[in-house]
Amino acid sequence: MLNKKMLNKKNTFLITGGAGFIGSNLAAYLLQNNQKVIVLDNLENGLNSNIKFLENLYGEFNFIKGDIRDFNTCLIATKNVDYVLHQAALGSVPRSMKNIHLYHENNISGSLNILESSLKNNIKKVVCASSSSVYGNTPILPKVETMSTTPLSPYALGKLTVEYYSTLYSNTFNLPTLNLRYFNVYGPRQNPLSAYAAVIPKFIKSFKANQNIEIYGNGEQTRDFTYIENVIDANIKAAFSDNKSNGEAINIGCGYKITINQLAKTIKNILTSTGEIIYKQNRLGDVSDSLADINKAKKLIDYKGNITLDIGLDKTINWYKGN
Ligand SMILES: NC(=O)c1ccc[n+]([C@@H]2O[C@H](COP(=O)([O-])OP(=O)(O)OC[C@H]3O[C@@H](n4cnc5c(N)ncnc54)[C@H](O)[C@@H]3O)[C@@H](O)[C@H]2O)c1
Repeated sequence: MLNKKMLNKKNTFLITGGAGFIGSNLAAYLLQNNQKVIVLDNLENGLNSNIKFLENLYGEFNFIKGDIRDFNTCLIATKNVDYVLHQAALGSVPRSMKNIHLYHENNISGSLNILESSLKNNIKKVVCASSSSVYGNTPILPKVETMSTTPLSPYALGKLTVEYYSTLYSNTFNLPTLNLRYFNVYGPRQNPLSAYAAVIPKFIKSFKANQNIEIYGNGEQTRDFTYIENVIDANIKAAFSDNKSNGEAINIGCGYKITINQLAKTIKNILTSTGEIIYKQNRLGDVSDSLADINKAKKLIDYKGNITLDIGLDKTINWYKGN
């Protein structure tokens, strides 16, 4: 999948949000490939157990417990770093609807601190985690990066604003940046316990215990679920790509969509669960359908996205069975 030559030389990566789901998987992969990794996380949603897990891996690892809203912390964290993989953010569309100022401060102002400190410390490239939510509810599928964006929540607006800031930092101040628009990422270490947890870990946890699951709306909404290994592949290739990195936004998905009903039935069958589906009212800010066109990612960063939903679900369910 990944061109291992990219990781032949030892580089230093700062992973913001590295105690979280995507960040800790990225950190683990880089450490296993003999890279130096620094994680900056305030542990707001990240887990101490993820940091413990990283400390036990082979490789040079440092953890800074700190907040991206503090500029001085960002300056210290980006010192002597080659690449920044910026994952820190508050997730959850529904939570953002009730906490607009908090999301602004955390996800927009915090990211601005990361960009500014990266510029001051001559970072080679900043790869920012963006989101498919920037497209909003436009009916046309698949989503192509040239389409207009219509964010429907403070969370989505924050992601789009950070894309603009990173483009500004590239075009005006020559800081190489790329934005990866993730489409519903899933895999090991995704937290199923929060009230706003993503559907796959939530469904696995409930069905595994033969409990009922809840679906908002009629379940016919579709999503392009992306296995974590595809996202790792994308981040590392984005960091090392020779292409112009001037804040381009790139879809990172699988290019395949499934309804939430189909997904629930698949997981229920794999786990031979007696849990049932309970339908609840649609949530404000949720989009109906989502599917990525991944041609730009293939062309620009040689992204493959070839771990399919079948394979990814299998790997994920097996992981949760053992953990
Ligand atoms: N998981 C998905 O499906 C998905 C989809 C689209 C975009 N994204 C984006 O990918 C990134 C990673 O997502 P994730 O699923 O791993 O979420 P996560 O909540 O597991 O990880 C985010 C991490 O950021 C940390 N964090 C939040 N605010 C911080 C702050 N102010 N200072 C320092 N650390 C802070 C949290 O403690 C957490 O560990 C996020 O930017 C998210 O918006 C995720």
